[in-house]
Amino acid sequence: MSARIGQPTPRIEGRAKVTGAARYAAERTLPGLHHAVIVPATVAAGRVTSLDAGVALALDGVLAVLDHRNAPRLGPVKIFPLGPAGEGRMPLQDDRIAYAGQAVALVIAHTPEIAAHAAGLVRVTYAAEPPRTMAALMEAGERGDELPEPLRKITDATRGDVARGLAEADVTVEGTWETPSHIHNALELAATVAEWDADTGTLLLHDSTQWVLGARRTVADALGLALDKVRVLCPFTGGGFGSKCFTWPHTILAAVAARQLGVPVRIVQPRSQTHTSFGNRPQVRQVLTLGALRDGTLTAIRHHAIEQTSVMDSFIRPAGEVSEVLYATPNLETRHRMLPVNSSTPTNMRAPAESFGSFALEGAMDELAEALGMDPLALRRRNLPAAHPDGLPWSSCGLGACYHEGAAAFGWDQRPMQPGTLRDGDTLIGWGMAAGCYGSYRSQAAVRATLHADGTAEVACATHEIGSGTATLMAMVAAEELGLEVDRVTVLLGDTDLPAAPVHGASRTAATIGPAVQAAARALRHRVLALAAPGRNEAAPLADVLRAAGVAQLTSEERAGPPELDDAAFATMASGINTIRQPKTKTAAMYAFCAHFVEVRVRPARGEIRVSRIVSRLGAGRILNPTGARSQALGSIVFGIGMALHEAVVWDPALGRQVSASPTDYHIAGGPDVPQALDIGFVEERDELVNELDAKGVAELGLVGFAGAVANAVWHATGRRIRQVPITPAVLLSPTPGAVR
Ligand code: MOS
Repeated sequence: MSARIGQPTPRIEGRAKVTGAARYAAERTLPGLHHAVIVPATVAAGRVTSLDAGVALALDGVLAVLDHRNAPRLGPVKIFPLGPAGEGRMPLQDDRIAYAGQAVALVIAHTPEIAAHAAGLVRVTYAAEPPRTMAALMEAGERGDELPEPLRKITDATRGDVARGLAEADVTVEGTWETPSHIHNALELAATVAEWDADTGTLLLHDSTQWVLGARRTVADALGLALDKVRVLCPFTGGGFGSKCFTWPHTILAAVAARQLGVPVRIVQPRSQTHTSFGNRPQVRQVLTLGALRDGTLTAIRHHAIEQTSVMDSFIRPAGEVSEVLYATPNLETRHRMLPVNSSTPTNMRAPAESFGSFALEGAMDELAEALGMDPLALRRRNLPAAHPDGLPWSSCGLGACYHEGAAAFGWDQRPMQPGTLRDGDTLIGWGMAAGCYGSYRSQAAVRATLHADGTAEVACATHEIGSGTATLMAMVAAEELGLEVDRVTVLLGDTDLPAAPVHGASRTAATIGPAVQAAARALRHRVLALAAPGRNEAAPLADVLRAAGVAQLTSEERAGPPELDDAAFATMASGINTIRQPKTKTAAMYAFCAHFVEVRVRPARGEIRVSRIVSRLGAGRILNPTGARSQALGSIVFGIGMALHEAVVWDPALGRQVSASPTDYHIAGGPDVPQALDIGFVEERDELVNELDAKGVAELGLVGFAGAVANAVWHATGRRIRQVPITPAVLLSPTPGAVR
């Protein structure tokens, strides 16, 4: 039996996905299914003054129109990190408008076409108020609100004395970096099918989610149901990138309508509503100040951020997180403030804080290198942290190896120091680099493993296959423990009736579910072997033992988790509330690291930038499935190209509406934007502390630092420092890029 773990393994659900056999939430069909369409608010702030559904209701096939006057009252839910909801304000409860796109009514009809047509016939008038927008508020000098104390504790960091560190510096640099709001744009739209059983008072939801247990908790709390009266199914999730971590108003509305009307109800948000009403990455302004000695040794990092939140909720992911980790500075100060605006509440989006935080930090490091007359890689190596800068030992750290192996593969030692010196005819060529890190989180999970006498096995867990390779990894780990081929193992996922798992987020799933699969399969193997006759051939399949003993199947269910989390934490997690071990434990700091080396080609007359060559090295512990891990890193890098060059929510500053709420106006990186010269690799790393499989998460890591590496390469090509993304032709051609949105 050769090892399964560590072998390149294609995704086990690939055939089901490409043949259409894999069923997603919106594909649930059943007799009597009705279709609901949300009527979105067309103003960003104010009140509904009148709502006339008469014409819509008169239409053949329209069953009902719910609005704030006739919709049922809903219970309170809690948003992340205290709860599993995306927004704390429940839909259709009052006449207030918090953002353009907010649900003001819900039309339920026999067909999607009738529902959509009728939604357009609902007459709504508003008393509009001037909206709060980031652009206008920051222009007016707004600095944002202090965070409430429980949030500040987990966001702001202080080490040493930054004022003293800056005073001791030979060289300081300071700048302001701007990043826009982003939208996840997963392929699968936000969708829910709700089935209410009036006889038993139970609700069955088919929901596009990264967290069935969280969806159950949110909907149960909102509708006042016991947890065991709600079941949520999601065997496949068509991408999420964080948008489906938490539960949004459309899911609650589908459940409300199904219960109210006694018919099954489907809601599929159109693409425009996934832009306006399904979370977003917040817009952020960051001010960084770095100080260093003449030899490049950092004396201080000061990282201040103002981050967008909504007028409804306080959602924050701290921009300064990477600045705490990446460089060995004795003095550090990160501070975060929040600016409430009229938007859907921001949420997790791939490398939620690390994406924009690293863009600013890595730009500032490049400017510091320039000010010192140092090579940017040499500056980073000078400040390579031998331990976590707070003093904790690393569980393992591959950052030095990423620098070394990445630079060698790229040919970084051939890079001229002067910007604007590499050319190919009229095309300017630039080389830039940046580093990144991502915490190695871990939670608890339970897994059930079953072996059948025919030599097949099953592993089951309420986690998700969101495209990231979870199912394949589970099959690999089970196959290894049970001595099977990977294709003998079936994986059951996405069902609240299965053993409990946390939200599929924070790149923690391999590290969380993997060890639980291992524990369950190992316990199962021991149970099977206990049935074996003495003198059994060790090499014979386990299923032979079952058959010889006349047993059709055996099952084991086990939990696994970090020692910091106890039974009470497991119960909390199983009830749909997030519990997690932070990357810094009492004894070690656990992080994955990466370094990106990027070449850009710039056509100065057109302001056109193309990423023409990429070398990325990642250190993420033991690579369990090289095929899946590389695919995740590649996905993050494509996200990084989009962040650097394309992606931005454009807000109308006067109306507070998104004017980019469609794929034609919100550009993401596509195939032609990704260079052929693409070298992604993992450095050798062993980590016996992080978990039983020695594995760190890779899903979000590759995005961290990437946009900074592109901006640094643009400087090297053109001599222009661009402290904002996306670096569009308009930005690059503008004498005052900060003015271009
Ligand atoms: Mo991730 S942004 O935690 O799905």
